[in-house]
Amino acid sequence: MKPIHGFSKLSKLEKIRTLAERDLSNVYRPEELLKSFWHSDLSQQKIFDDFTENSISNFYFPYGVCPNLLLNDKLYTVPMVTEESSVVAAASKACKFWLDRGGFKAEVISTTKSGQVHLRWAGDPLELVNVFEEVKIQLLNSVTELTTNMEKRGGGLLSVRLIDRTADEPGYMQLWADFETCDAMGANFINSVLEALGQNFVQLVSSKTEDVPEVIMAILSNYSPECLVRVSVSCPIDELDDPAHGMNPQAFADKFTLAVRIATIDVNRATTHNKGIFNGIDAVILATGNDFRAVEACGHTYAARDGQYRSLSRANIDNGVFKFWIDIPMSVGTVGGLTKLHPLANLSLRMLGEPSAPELMSVAAALGLAQNFAALRSLVTSGIQKGHMKMHLMNILNHLEATDLERNTVRDFFVDKDISFNAVREYLSELRGF
Ligand code: MEV
Repeated sequence: MKPIHGFSKLSKLEKIRTLAERDLSNVYRPEELLKSFWHSDLSQQKIFDDFTENSISNFYFPYGVCPNLLLNDKLYTVPMVTEESSVVAAASKACKFWLDRGGFKAEVISTTKSGQVHLRWAGDPLELVNVFEEVKIQLLNSVTELTTNMEKRGGGLLSVRLIDRTADEPGYMQLWADFETCDAMGANFINSVLEALGQNFVQLVSSKTEDVPEVIMAILSNYSPECLVRVSVSCPIDELDDPAHGMNPQAFADKFTLAVRIATIDVNRATTHNKGIFNGIDAVILATGNDFRAVEACGHTYAARDGQYRSLSRANIDNGVFKFWIDIPMSVGTVGGLTKLHPLANLSLRMLGEPSAPELMSVAAALGLAQNFAALRSLVTSGIQKGHMKMHLMNILNHLEATDLERNTVRDFFVDKDISFNAVREYLSELRGF
């Protein structure tokens, strides 16, 4: 196959027809298939098309809800977008469990974000540090046009400092800026201010020194450990009693807290453990039109903040009280970006009662903790596959093109049996008489 030139300039239909002839020639009626996922209202479809370049259709994910999240004494129904069958069911179960035990408590510890201008400087690092101190006020004033609006909302550029990184890389100096972006994720705001800071710093310095610093790049950091939320659940051990997990509460609490400690010690377990946490967080982040890649990247870096990748959650038993909590940094927005443009992201925020960004951080972190609780509860009791395969049964039945009648019969048959693809296929074959 030859490369395509000028693809982005083609109309949407031309793109589809071009692909139909080359990359999709092995697909039955690709144009019809792609069009069948277009929005029936073409003005709505235009909104989706404008999100990215080369859009040819929409890729559906289920939009589910987790009811009964009690967080700081407020009840939420939480929108979740995920394709993994057991995620919403697990989160819902965990939220229901903690609803009767005081719910989740959240505390937003700080909301500061940062970005850096990475510089190359051929002169003496100390000289640049001294010049920086001389021009610092001018530098801050040089970006007020960009920061005024954010200041009116209570945020803005909080501080700028110069860091000597020449011990790590010859000539490497860094302008570090801290920001408060209120209810916006603030990526565009931060990046615009950083680019202006870089240019203005070069100008200010070059009027005072022979050497001129060179801007290598100016960009926000997706690592925002100072934009941090803590969410916890706790209850006396006796209250962990639950016929659904069928274990005595003390044994359950011991096994559960050990499972969390294992995830802080062992990197293999930590990765899977945190993946489970992000099952919950990502689903909320996606449903509210936020940037799940940024949230994931930040969370994973934080999990490795002491040099080893560890569990993001912790658990302990103190004086007969079981406590389970998560500290997690994340940068989210409830204004700007897709939050108003994507009709369902907008609906999600309304469902959550139009939260502030800190409130959304709390909700997403709570869902992460709920998800983690549900996963560990299954893992240390019945094992994960029982619940997982129960939810996955629908996918198996769809794959095997089962009729409604067959679905009901299969569901009843497997209610007390182990589910696997082969077992379901065999049983369906028997039902179908071959
Ligand atoms: C599956 O998507 C997530 C789990 O593996 C998480 C965990 O093991 O803690 C169940």
